[in-house]
Amino acid sequence: MLFQGIVLATAGFCQLAAAAQAFQKVEFTNVGFNGSFTPVKSIKNPDKDSCSCTVDDAEWFTGSNAPISAGVSVHFRGPLTLHKFAFYNSSEFSIGDNRTSADWNRVAYYDASSQTADNVTFLTNAGTDSPVLGKALTFATSNGTGASSSASVLAENTLLSSDDEFSIFSNITCPKSGTGKSCGVYRSGITAYHGFSGVTKMFLFEFEMPTETQSNSSSFSYYDMPAIWLLNEHIPRTSQYPTDANCSCWASGCGEFDIFEVMNGTERNHLYSTFHTFQGIEDLGTGIQASGYISRDTSSTMKGGVVFDSQGNTVVFVSNSTTFNETITPETLNGLVENFSSDESYSTQLASISATLPSTTSKSNAFSLFEKRAGNLWFYFFTFITSVAHTLLI
Ligand SMILES: *[C@@H]1O[C@H](CO)[C@@H](O)[C@H](O)[C@H]1NC(C)=O
Ligand SMILES: *[C@@H]1O[C@H](CO)[C@@H](O)[C@H](O)[C@H]1NC(C)=O
Ligand SMILES: *[C@@H]1O[C@H](CO)[C@@H](O)[C@H](O)[C@H]1NC(C)=O
Ligand SMILES: *[C@@H]1O[C@H](CO)[C@@H](O)[C@H](O)[C@H]1NC(C)=O
Ligand SMILES: *[C@@H]1O[C@H](CO)[C@@H](O)[C@H](O)[C@H]1NC(C)=O
Ligand SMILES: *[C@@H]1O[C@H](CO)[C@@H](O)[C@H](O)[C@H]1NC(C)=O
Ligand SMILES: *[C@@H]1O[C@H](CO)[C@@H](O)[C@H](O)[C@H]1NC(C)=O
Ligand SMILES: *[C@@H]1O[C@H](CO)[C@@H](O)[C@H](O)[C@H]1NC(C)=O
Ligand SMILES: *[C@@H]1O[C@H](CO)[C@@H](O)[C@H](O)[C@H]1NC(C)=O
Ligand SMILES: *[C@@H]1O[C@H](CO)[C@@H](O)[C@H](O)[C@H]1NC(C)=O
Ligand SMILES: *[C@@H]1O[C@H](CO)[C@@H](O)[C@H](O)[C@H]1NC(C)=O
Ligand SMILES: *[C@@H]1O[C@H](CO)[C@@H](O)[C@H](O)[C@H]1NC(C)=O
Repeated sequence: MLFQGIVLATAGFCQLAAAAQAFQKVEFTNVGFNGSFTPVKSIKNPDKDSCSCTVDDAEWFTGSNAPISAGVSVHFRGPLTLHKFAFYNSSEFSIGDNRTSADWNRVAYYDASSQTADNVTFLTNAGTDSPVLGKALTFATSNGTGASSSASVLAENTLLSSDDEFSIFSNITCPKSGTGKSCGVYRSGITAYHGFSGVTKMFLFEFEMPTETQSNSSSFSYYDMPAIWLLNEHIPRTSQYPTDANCSCWASGCGEFDIFEVMNGTERNHLYSTFHTFQGIEDLGTGIQASGYISRDTSSTMKGGVVFDSQGNTVVFVSNSTTFNETITPETLNGLVENFSSDESYSTQLASISATLPSTTSKSNAFSLFEKRAGNLWFYFFTFITSVAHTLLI
């Protein structure tokens, strides 16, 4: 392994040492930090132009993979056909260490060809429309994008078009909406399910991302830009694309991780991985993106996924050796993710955040730290020095 270059990325500006290249494994290390976000407290007049939301006191997270260690929902955008999806958990797993790692257990599974849908619920934003919140979550019809009154299994070979989206949650229903309840406050009338939680978790996919066959026009927002990504499960239950930032915990940093995402029409066959968390950055919209990408294969089925290990390593990979067995041993998974040469792997180290949790959960403490993170120049300077050091290994 040869040390090739360091790229420092920081708040507001970002410089890249070299044009991004293709890899088969994109890894992030030092993932997880002490931080907070503000959950939605109330949603007023959801169906009117006057719709507005308030947010609650900061809610804290800490530890490996935080905040993605919380429950997440899994989102898909076309052009895409999903053949298989699986969610696994493990009590302990370290990338590159078979000895201290335990097995992975499959906790949720979808197989299009057998129409198996164990512990998965397909939802989509096709419910009541709101000028501020957008369309509400509903059960998806078997084509992924229509509104259904009951749960349906996504039909085999369903091809999502550009802009079309559906999501996968577990089959555990949420309790009533409310502060302090396990699903938090959410939009009334939606089908509300828990996502997939746990520090040490893995999502595997078998999918196609064929080139869009319709022609481009200004009616598309994401023409030929497929994606698979994770959101803090609170986000879709309040609003995925709000015009008022208070109507989702996204803007306060509750967490998004993009596993395979086309960013623009210029790089339509490049799949980037990005953390949209405040781990050393200010611009949440840009997020912390690896400067290497995975190639989108537009003509054959792709297999791969993302592993969040117990030590804060996140590994996104594609491999035709990916299996969806009920149990996956550490040897099998490490055999898979260590089977890439160094020129097929790209690694990004996330910043170490020095914030400490407040000794009490009082509102004043919580907000003072939040404001420090969001507005203090010295803090950014410190962040710049210690921040995102990308090491390109060849
Ligand atoms: C956002 O929420 C905060 C706290 O609940 C509130 O003070 C503020 O007015 C809200 N902003 C908007 C635009 O509604
Ligand atoms: C994994 O999920 C299963 C089924 O929900 C659960 O019983 C088990 O406790 C989970 N294991 C971990 C380590 O979270
Ligand atoms: C959830 O999925 C599991 C696994 O397939 C199944 O055993 C259970 O009955 C399902 N529960 C509901 C409420 O559908
Ligand atoms: C999906 O199904 C819904 C409900 O049946 C239908 O309205 C919609 O047109 C379908 N979408 C596509 C792309 O076929
Ligand atoms: C379904 O998934 C959820 C979320 O990971 C988990 O809590 C639950 O135990 C799973 N159900 C089964 C039957 O494994
Ligand atoms: C497309 O996205 C990539 C990855 O984020 C970025 O490096 C590149 O500058 C973008 N290109 C354009 C034209 O915006
Ligand atoms: C589609 O059109 C939009 C402008 O409407 C443009 O920004 C985008 O790059 C185009 N996509 C492709 C793949 O040509
Ligand atoms: C996976 O297999 C397909 C053929 O099914 C092939 O086209 C593709 O290059 C393989 N992908 C990788 C990453 O080896
Ligand atoms: C997966 O299960 C199949 C059959 O159950 C078995 O033949 C195969 O060896 C298993 N693969 C792995 C990687 O464990
Ligand atoms: C873990 O086991 C796999 C399969 O035996 C092997 O390929 C890999 O090198 C092992 N990793 C370590 C760090 O021992
Ligand atoms: C390891 O890589 C080689 C060459 O790319 C491939 O033939 C083999 O199937 C891979 N093995 C695993 C377990 O991924
Ligand atoms: C997070 O905060 C706790 C409590 O203040 C502290 O013990 C721990 O070291 C912190 N972790 C990091 C990564 O800063």
